[in-house]
Amino acid sequence: MSNASLSPLPSADHPDVTARLRGALLGASFTADGLLELLGAPAYAALSRSETVPALRATRGDTPLELLVRLFLLQQPVLHARVDDVLPVDACLESGWLVRAGDEVAATVDVRPYGGPGGEDWFIVSDLGCAVGGAGGIGSHAEGVVLGVGGASTTLAGLTVRTPVSAALDLGTGSGIQALHAAAHATRVTATDVNPRALHITALTLALSGAPAAELREGSLYEPVHDDETYDLIVSNPPFVISPGARLTYRDGGMGGDDLCRSLVQQTGERLNEGGFAHFLANWQHVEGEDWTDRLRSWVPRGCDAWIVQREVQDVTQYAELWLRDAGDHRGDPAEYQARYDAWLDEFEARKVRAVGFGWITLRRTGAAEPSVIAEEWPHPIEQPLGETVRTHFDRVDYLRAHDDAALLEAHFTLAGEVVQEQVGLPGAEDPEYVVLRQNRGMRRATRVDTVGAGFAGVCDGTMSAGRILDAIAQLVGEDPVALRDRTPAQIRLLVEQGFLEPA
Ligand SMILES: C[S@@+](CC[C@H](N)C(=O)[O-])C[C@H]1O[C@@H](n2cnc3c(N)ncnc32)[C@H](O)[C@@H]1O
Repeated sequence: MSNASLSPLPSADHPDVTARLRGALLGASFTADGLLELLGAPAYAALSRSETVPALRATRGDTPLELLVRLFLLQQPVLHARVDDVLPVDACLESGWLVRAGDEVAATVDVRPYGGPGGEDWFIVSDLGCAVGGAGGIGSHAEGVVLGVGGASTTLAGLTVRTPVSAALDLGTGSGIQALHAAAHATRVTATDVNPRALHITALTLALSGAPAAELREGSLYEPVHDDETYDLIVSNPPFVISPGARLTYRDGGMGGDDLCRSLVQQTGERLNEGGFAHFLANWQHVEGEDWTDRLRSWVPRGCDAWIVQREVQDVTQYAELWLRDAGDHRGDPAEYQARYDAWLDEFEARKVRAVGFGWITLRRTGAAEPSVIAEEWPHPIEQPLGETVRTHFDRVDYLRAHDDAALLEAHFTLAGEVVQEQVGLPGAEDPEYVVLRQNRGMRRATRVDTVGAGFAGVCDGTMSAGRILDAIAQLVGEDPVALRDRTPAQIRLLVEQGFLEPA
C-alpha cells in the first residue's frame, strides 16, 4: 500500500497524553456546539463540504478555540508560543499529535469535533487534507488515505438500530466513526479494516473521544473474524464504489462490479446472532435485462429478513463523474481525466451495466421459515436518525408474519402519530380522485389509499377490531360487508407494513 505522502500518525500508546489533549480540547470548547457558535451556521456547514474559506475568515483571532480550529481543522501551522497555554504542546509533539516547523507547530492529523446522539463530545481523527479540498475533491491520492466523516458515514450511523448489545462488529472501520457509535451501546466492539492505518486512526478516535477501546483486526471482509465468532450488530460502510480497478482503499473495493457488496451481504448470515441486525450502505449494478430488486434479493443470506431501500439511481456517466470528482481528477491533467472516464465506461459496457443504485441494506437474523425480503425504491427525504424506525419495521414484519387475514380482522390498530390525509383531485371537484396518507416522521412515507382505506385508518383508535370497523363502513357506504372483509386485509397489511397503522 503506497502511503509515502501521508504523515506519520500520533502514537496510540500514550493514553495519558491523549486524555490530556481531550481535556484541553474540551476546556477550549473545541466541540460541535462550540464550533457552531464560533463559526456560525453557514461556515460550519461549509466545513462539512470541505470548504474552509468561510471558517478561515471566522478564526482570524487568537482565542484558544480559534487557534485550535486553525490547527486541527483548517490545518494551518500556529505559533508554538500561542498554543502553549491551550494544549500540552510538548507532550503532543513527543507523542506525534503535532510536529514542529520553526517556531510554529502543525497538526499531523485532522481532529474534528463530533456530537454523539446523547450529547457526547466526541472527536473523529482522520488524515490531513481529506476535509480540506472543497470542490477540488480529496486532498491526498495516497492509496491508504483515511477519510473522516462523510455523508455516507452519518447516514449509516443514523440508520443503525441502537439497542444495547453484547458484541458489535464494524467492518471497514476507517476513521472509527461507526465503532465509536457502537461503543455507546455494545459491551464489546470489534473493528476491522484492510488498511492498518485505519485501525491506528480508529484507536485514536476512540481514545480521544473518551470511549472504550475496540478490538482492532486487520483483514478483508470477514477474514479477521474467527469461525466461532458471531455478533448482535454488524455495520459496514464498505468501499462500495464500482470502479475499474482498485485505486483508493477507502472507496474502491477492488473486486469486480458490485461483488464486494454482494460478498459482504452474503457472508453476513452466519455471522449474526439470532435477532441481530446488520446494516450496510451499498452500490449495485442495474444490468440490462435484469430487475435490480431480483439482483438484490439474490444477495440476501438464508435465515435473514431483509429491508433494502434504493435511495438513488445514477446513469453510468453521472456515476463515473461523481467519483472522478471525488478524487479531484477533474482538476488534473485533462488527458488523464479523459482516459480514466473512458476506462470507467468501458468497464460498465463490458458488464452491460446501465445505471448504478445507491442504498441501504438491513438484515435481521430470524428463525422464521419464510423470511421477509422487502426491496423498495424510496428517493424522498427521510428523518434521521432512522434506527428506531428500522427496528420497528422488523417488529411489524414479525407481526404480519404471525397474522393471516382472519387474524388481522380480529386485531385492533391505532393510527401512527403525525399521519395526515391529503386529498388529490381537480380544483372544485366534489370528491377527490384519490387520497394520500402521509407520515411526517421516520421514512416520511406517503401512500395512496381508497376512501375505505382512508376511512378505516381514521377510525383506528384501538377500541374496535378491524373487522368491526369494516362492517360499520360497509353499512355506511352500502357495500356488502363480506366483500369488504374479503378485499381490505391486503390494504391493512400494507398500512401496517409501512407503519401507518400500529397493532394496539
Ligand atoms: C467508505 S470507508 C468507511 C469508513 C467508516 N467506516 C465510515 O463509515 O466513515 C471504507 C473502509 O473500508 C476499508 N476497506 C476497504 N476494502 C476493505 C475490505 N476488503 N475489507 C475490509 N475493509 C475494507 C477501507 O480501508 C475504509 O476504511
